[in-house]
Amino acid sequence: MQIPDIIIAIDGYSSTGKSSFAKIVANEFSFLYLDSGALYRGVTLFAIENGFITEDCKIDIAGLDKALEDLDIHFGPDGTYIGDRCIEKEIRSLTVANKVSPIATVAEVRRFVDRKLREFGEKKRIVMDGRDIGTTVFPEAEIKIFMTADPMVRAERRAAEMRAKGEDVNIEDVLKNLQERDYIDSHREVSPLSKADDAIVLDNSHMTIDEQLVWLKEIISERFGC
Ligand code: CDP
Repeated sequence: MQIPDIIIAIDGYSSTGKSSFAKIVANEFSFLYLDSGALYRGVTLFAIENGFITEDCKIDIAGLDKALEDLDIHFGPDGTYIGDRCIEKEIRSLTVANKVSPIATVAEVRRFVDRKLREFGEKKRIVMDGRDIGTTVFPEAEIKIFMTADPMVRAERRAAEMRAKGEDVNIEDVLKNLQERDYIDSHREVSPLSKADDAIVLDNSHMTIDEQLVWLKEIISERFGC
């Protein structure tokens, strides 16, 4: 299916399968996939390792803001990198997941990440997933999807994903983490998670990825006549 040069924004709750879906969509249409959450996770890892966030989530905002000026975070062949260090495994851990939403409430951090995301989006033909892509980062995106799913289904999927990567997690901890993140993400002052007025809701509690792709192709073909 040949589709025009557009931006596809996928937002939604934690662990609704946004990134898995975004990757399939990117592959199907030969678009570039950009994972905005990976940048927030990368900044969080950087903050933990450099003492800008304490165990009980107190953040040295001024120090972090200053340090971000020199932070070289980018995407490379194996995912997310700081300089030439691949941080993909570390940023998916529960340690980072437990601190990322507080870090993502910081306006200075959001400004830093938004700037990077907009640079990537200049060329169009991208699919980007996150919490505020359709509302704040690319409000002009031609297709906006808002993903949701039953919390227990989400926790089971995420726990299985983490176990497959060798992390020893229990379902209650994962469920608690995603509910806490949903709460913080939806209630923060700066660009909270919310559905854009023109976004289409996708509840994938009982859908396979292939079914989701069929659903999206129908929408695209209706909208663009392709
Ligand atoms: O994959 P998952 O849904 O668990 O989360 P993620 O996309 O990796 O994002 C991790 C966290 O980054 C989210 O819980 C948000 O706190 C934050 N985030 C955000 O605030 N804005 C975005 N555009 C993307 C992520």
